[in-house]
Amino acid sequence: MKNGLTKTRKVVVIGTGFVGSSYAFSLLNQGVVNELVLVDLNREKAEGEARDLNHGMPFGSPMKIRAGDYQECSNADLVVITAGANQQPGETRLDLVTKNAKIFRSIVSTIMDVGFKGIFLVATNPVDILSHVTLEVSGLPKERVIGSGTILDTARFRYLLSEHFEVDSRNVHAYIMGEHGDSELPVWSHVQIGGIPLSRYANIEKIEEDKEMQAIFENVRDAAYHIIERKGATYYGIALGLVRLTKAILHNENSIVTVSTLLDGEYGLKNVFLGVPAIVNEYGIRQVVELDLNEKEQKQLENSASILKEMTNKALG
Ligand code: 2OP
Repeated sequence: MKNGLTKTRKVVVIGTGFVGSSYAFSLLNQGVVNELVLVDLNREKAEGEARDLNHGMPFGSPMKIRAGDYQECSNADLVVITAGANQQPGETRLDLVTKNAKIFRSIVSTIMDVGFKGIFLVATNPVDILSHVTLEVSGLPKERVIGSGTILDTARFRYLLSEHFEVDSRNVHAYIMGEHGDSELPVWSHVQIGGIPLSRYANIEKIEEDKEMQAIFENVRDAAYHIIERKGATYYGIALGLVRLTKAILHNENSIVTVSTLLDGEYGLKNVFLGVPAIVNEYGIRQVVELDLNEKEQKQLENSASILKEMTNKALG
């Protein structure tokens, strides 16, 4: 029964494949929302997932989970899109663009047709381009379309650095920026461990020329390929990243996270979705955080932007 005193946080997840269902499972564990609706082209699959998740309710965090249809988006606070084809071994994220842009056009216009007024969180790859498609098709203000961007790459980076230096990953501050994909870059100039710049912490003068550090970045950049070769898909890491973003948005946390957003002059770039650090709250993207990049990092970011722009123009037609 609703008495108007409690705020309902309603999320609809589109796609109950590995990513969507792992996201639902992580939400159940972390108690972030009150209501979760699972939507899938295969309704039976969504029903099965909802039942399975509900049976864990006594061990999880109280919430309502059910399968539903697109109509559920009309009063949702957040719609998370995980639907679409995923990478096969050897395929890049950009290879998926044509297939998934088509799927997205239909999903996003259906959601807008039922009167959706919330925030979109996009996870499907290539995430930067599909976030742009979502913005164009929805016509929503840019702060309300967020791509998961490099949130997972940043987490991988922090984790690998934390393992290397044997420090809690929560004390490692580091960002991966740019495309969620092959042209992304590590922002070495701003890596800090417990507030100490990495070069001083590790006693390495030129971090970006250090072989061990380079190997760490390559492992971050190629992580998805390594996992897909071994188990066919990646889903736990991104699911937890999506929960992190859900919390930042629905709990109005003003968290700084690396997400994909439409740049409008920040970093000297315009009209392209790229992974950048940004402050996220209940309005979506409050503000892009502009780091002082060194010359090499700025060039790498511009390169990533131009690759994405070209692909996005094709996807937008
Ligand atoms: C990942 O980075 C495949 O984009 C997915 O794990």
